Amino acid sequence: MVSKFVFGNPIRTKAVIEEIAPADFSIMNPLLKFSEDKSSFTIDLLPDDSIYGLGESLHGMNKRGFIYVSNNTDQVHHDENQYSLYGSHNFVLLNRFKGLKLGLFVDYPAKTTFDIGFTDKDVMKVSVEEPDYTLYVVEGDSALSIITEFRKIIGKSYKAPLWGFGYGQSRWGYKCTEDILKVVEEHKRLNLPLDSVYMDIDYMQDYAVFTINPERYHYFEDFVKKMKEEHIHLVPAIDPAVKRLKGYFVYDEGVENNYFCKDEEGNDFPVAVWPGLAHLPDFFKPEVKKWFGQKYKLFTDVGIDGFWNDMNEPAIFYSSKSIKAAADKLATLKDKTETLNLSELWDYLDTASGLANNAEDYKSFYHEIDGKKVRHDRVHNLYAFNMVEGISKEFKEIAPDKEILFFSRSSYVGQHRYSGIWTGDNSSYYSHIKLILSQLPGLNMNGFLYVGADTGGFAFNVSEPLLMRFMQISMFTPLFRNHCALGCRDQEIYNFKDIDSFRNMLNLRYALIPELYRIYNDCIENSKLMFTPLALAYPDDRACLDVDDQLMLGDDYMIVPVYEANATGRYVYLPEDMTAYVLKSDKDYKTVNMEKGYHHIDIALNELVIFVKKGKELKLSKPANNTALL
Ligand code: GLC
Repeated sequence: MVSKFVFGNPIRTKAVIEEIAPADFSIMNPLLKFSEDKSSFTIDLLPDDSIYGLGESLHGMNKRGFIYVSNNTDQVHHDENQYSLYGSHNFVLLNRFKGLKLGLFVDYPAKTTFDIGFTDKDVMKVSVEEPDYTLYVVEGDSALSIITEFRKIIGKSYKAPLWGFGYGQSRWGYKCTEDILKVVEEHKRLNLPLDSVYMDIDYMQDYAVFTINPERYHYFEDFVKKMKEEHIHLVPAIDPAVKRLKGYFVYDEGVENNYFCKDEEGNDFPVAVWPGLAHLPDFFKPEVKKWFGQKYKLFTDVGIDGFWNDMNEPAIFYSSKSIKAAADKLATLKDKTETLNLSELWDYLDTASGLANNAEDYKSFYHEIDGKKVRHDRVHNLYAFNMVEGISKEFKEIAPDKEILFFSRSSYVGQHRYSGIWTGDNSSYYSHIKLILSQLPGLNMNGFLYVGADTGGFAFNVSEPLLMRFMQISMFTPLFRNHCALGCRDQEIYNFKDIDSFRNMLNLRYALIPELYRIYNDCIENSKLMFTPLALAYPDDRACLDVDDQLMLGDDYMIVPVYEANATGRYVYLPEDMTAYVLKSDKDYKTVNMEKGYHHIDIALNELVIFVKKGKELKLSKPANNTALL
């Protein structure tokens, strides 16, 4: 049962699409204790209570013990001391062992804080900035039925085309057609499956959105066609900020039609991102959504059918306003070179390092929503939602017959109906294998099924064993894209030694794709989780509460990735009798029947283990080098 409670005057978010009549506060579950102005509530936690959800957030699967802030942030440090990542996924589930289960969705487009047993280990406190929000309380007999009920009210998830499950190679730094051709040719030469190559920002002319650098991407249309003949999809990055440059058609149209976000005085608000000074389209205006979405026709007309939307928190490296203030402050340093004390030094350093994604900037520009001026920070978490929703709508017009692969970096609940997401700038750390594992169920609860992390890690240098272990988790996620940052060690598979093992893993992925796609579709159609924490799948088994590094996949499988350097195996907990498939490839594998309980299992670097419930079997198809050939 879903009860909807409305506090104050919430800004409409479109997260929930089912019409639900507001309930009277008198029927609120007594477990929730509200502050007088209703801007926060607390729930007392029992020792065995676990909390799941919050989608793209840090720490483990069970969210208890930390603070999480929904405040869409361009965050390159996915470290334990951070509070916010790129998305705001405000659904949480209270899982009381052999007791009450409760789903809560805080529908609020600005900063929302979930202090889950951090300040007080036995209390969960949820707070918003201003008491104007809608709270959905979902009650039911089981955690999984509550999640399904919540998923139903937020609507069906976006369905990616099958090729979106194929292997994708990306890198920030591919500059020209030759760089892309090299990827395709190396994969062909070494007989490595491949479905897509990503075009990061360097394909543009001076990072101006909707342009293509004619020298580096000459005969673009022919190139796209040539790639298509080889079943390779090119997937360009599209960022929202429009370069400030007179004579550049996107900028000129934006200025002329008042499409950009305004400052307090009503002037276009300048921010700096990759193209230098730029303007942010005001995606809250229907005409801007349409305008920006229609521009994708430039790509769809030449055969492009996949896009990743980046930097749409929106990321701001600095604004004209903030850089002026910082420059004035830093200028005072020259009078202090003889007297500077440490706290002054830190203050100067903070001034420079605090320029990017600065809270003050987000309070300095405005949107027009239904004819009213609304300060950005009040609706911050909806910026990407509006961008993606608008584009997705235009896809139907500009490419009605195409199934488009579409995912975004930033997000809010509801956006899952229009796109997938990737989890942004992770690092080449073993701990980030565990991180994506932890994020998967929460993302699914919040509607996001087409998800994945940068395989191998975005920031820093990857080692061959780390790339292999990373692949062994990406093996199961809908998006499987190897991506890394400018300046990092070459991360394409073909730069490493044990090509045979990498090929085996990719073949395994392709052998699994039909089954993964079936599970994915089942989870879309029936509002289910693709990845389920053991504690929710086996609610009466106390031991499952302590399992934070294994996941049920679909109804029949369990995955147990290795996420420690040099490990040649790991401990696992089996909640029932299962068969372990220890796979070197789709052809070379053994099966071991194992009983419910704790086990150590050997998993060599070139092996993947999938557990299958007793009486079921692992469905492997014949692999191919491309999904078009499956
Ligand atoms: C952002 C994206 C990353 C991309 C880079 C350059 O950091 O998250 O994936 O490679 O921008 O476009």
